[in-house]
Order: sequence, then structure tokens, then C-alpha cells
Amino acid sequence: MSEFSSRLIAWQKVHGRHDLPWQNTTDPYAIWVSEIMLQQTQVAAVIGYYAKFMQRFPDIATLANATQEEVLQYWSGLGYYSRARNLHKAAITIMDIHGGEFPQNFDTIQTLSGIGRSTAAAIASFAFNQIQTILDGNVKRVLARHFLVEGWPSHPKIEKELWARAENLLPESQMIAYTQGLMDLGATLCTRSKPKCADCPLIDSCAAYKQQRVHQLPTPKPRKAIPEKNTTMLILVRGDDVMLEKRPPTGIWGGLWSFPEADISENLPELAYSRFGISTQFTQSLPQLSHAFTHFKLHIQPQQLTVLSNNSQVNEAGYLWLNIDDAIGAAIPTPVRKILQTLQLNLTSTHFSD
Ligand code: ADE
Ligand code: SF4
Repeated sequence: MSEFSSRLIAWQKVHGRHDLPWQNTTDPYAIWVSEIMLQQTQVAAVIGYYAKFMQRFPDIATLANATQEEVLQYWSGLGYYSRARNLHKAAITIMDIHGGEFPQNFDTIQTLSGIGRSTAAAIASFAFNQIQTILDGNVKRVLARHFLVEGWPSHPKIEKELWARAENLLPESQMIAYTQGLMDLGATLCTRSKPKCADCPLIDSCAAYKQQRVHQLPTPKPRKAIPEKNTTMLILVRGDDVMLEKRPPTGIWGGLWSFPEADISENLPELAYSRFGISTQFTQSLPQLSHAFTHFKLHIQPQQLTVLSNNSQVNEAGYLWLNIDDAIGAAIPTPVRKILQTLQLNLTSTHFSD
């Protein structure tokens, strides 16, 4: 076994994490759900969501039988909602073509929606003790530093080199401690800023450390300016209810409930009348919010309108009048939840002053 692997495994056993909710199980489903949640979300934020998700959807069959709406509801606030849609889709695939059993073949695992090479390797090593290497963002950072690999780690050429390095390091056994060790080292010692090299089991062989270039690696992504977009959200308030609109199934916040949107320049009461047939009165602008997506930044201006007449025929599918408290518990993205919470506070303080 390489020195790298034996040191990492020995370190993991003493200093690594052993009590995360998805450890100490070999249930591929439990491991799969955790790996998907952890793809773009920190451990601390995942833990609460994970417990609730597993309680409601304890196995593949239960997840496959649920509606996408409910799965998204349990994901609401975690972001990157395609993860939830893919998880649900893959559960259905497993029921339909894999007899309800999570596949063990490494290539088959990767055919499931939302599972790439690294996630498949994490599941295969944790659940089936297979010798497969992971290469997520943390592992790329560790390897780029340890082997002093320059260049942005997700550039195809650099990534190819890192995969090869990672495969070379694989031990013949103890895959669970090894894989967890890679993750733990990246998350607790070889962190992006202020790495704790003095505590690192790999310090003797680390090329970046030797050359005092740790802080220069990994090479950052060549940055283009992130585009910014603006939108106006129509907060239509009727008593204690608000109107929500279901987003199209794909794209940003696909399948989630949000507020109807308009261009900044539109006359909003006119728009509300032409789109929904309701008379409204402009009430107030709520505080602006900004939300960062992977490829752009969205600035949201919520505009509150009060419904005057109740002649709305909005019973089309895709629209919903919902009590504000219920809306907060629905499958909604984070900025919509923030707007609803502001609205809830405003309405409560209005009732108090009545
Ligand atoms: N990040 C991705 N997978 C993880 C795991 N199994 N434990 C901790 N952090 C992780
Ligand atoms: Fe990372 Fe420092 Fe360890 Fe090198 S010595 S692997 S830079 S923590």
C-alpha cells in the first residue's frame, strides 16, 4: 500500500469523523441520499434535512412512490433542486428496471440520474466495499497540493491527471476508512483557507508544503464576470393568502412554487388584471433580495399588491392561493421563503396595531 494511503487510513481511524448520520451503515440507499445532499452542501446544513428526508422516505420504494412535489418539499431550502428531481427519478428507475435493489455494478450505478463517477465511487466503496476512487472538490484540492498539480482542477486535462493520481493511490483494502479519510482530510485539515498542515499525516510527502506553495493551490478557475439578472416578483395578497405559481419542470427552481414574475418596467396592477383577471392595488415594495446561482446572480424586487375584487378565476393548474403559513411549508426556493417571512412579520405587526 502507498505511504499516502496507509498514513491517511491510520489518521482517519484516530482523527477522522465516525459519527455522521450516514456512517456506520452499509445501506446503499442511505449512503446514496447522503452523497447527493453532500454534493453541493456542507455537512452541518445537510444533517437536519437528511434526518427528515430519511424519516419520510426510508427506502427506495417509498421514495419512488412519492410525488415529485413532496420530494421537492423535503428538499426545499437545500438548493440545487435538480439533485432532488434526479434522486426521485433514479428511485423510480431502480424500482422499474433493477427490481427495487440498488445496483452493485460500478458502471450501472453511474447510469442512474444524478450519479457521476465520483458519487458512484463513494457509494460503491461505502456500501459495497469496492475499490473505487472518489474525486470531488475537496479531494481535488488535497491532490493538487500534495502532488503540486497546477492548473484549474476541473479543466478536463487537469482533471484527467488527478483521476490518474487518485487511482494510483488506492489501497487494496480498508476502502471505507480510506474514502472517508480523503473526505475528512479535505474538510478538516487541508481546507481551502488556513489549512492545518502541522496536523496533517501527509506533511512529509506534500510537495506544495515543501515548496511553501500551499496557499497558491489549487489554481483558481479563470473567472468571467458573473452575469446579473433582475426580476420583479408579484406578491398578490388576498386576506391571509398569497398566490403561488408553479415553475416549469426544468430550469432554475424547476417544479418548485414561486411568485409570478414580471419585468421591472411593467405596470403591475394592469398585469395582474390581464394575466389573472383580478383587480389589485399596489401596496408596497418589499426589501430587495439577491440570490447567487452557479451561472448568474439574480436580483429580486418583490412588489406587494392587495387584491380588491374577488372575481379571480385562477383555478388553472399551476396556480394556487395559499395561506402564508402553509406557503412557508411548501416546496419553495429560499428567496421566496424569505419574502413570505417578511410578509408574515408585516401582517402580524399590522394586526397588532389594529
Ligand atoms: N462529503 C461527501 N460525502 C461525504 C461523507 N460521506 N461524509 C462527509 N462529508 C462528505
Ligand atoms: Fe494539505 Fe497541508 Fe497536508 Fe499538504 S500538508 S496535504 S497542503 S494539509
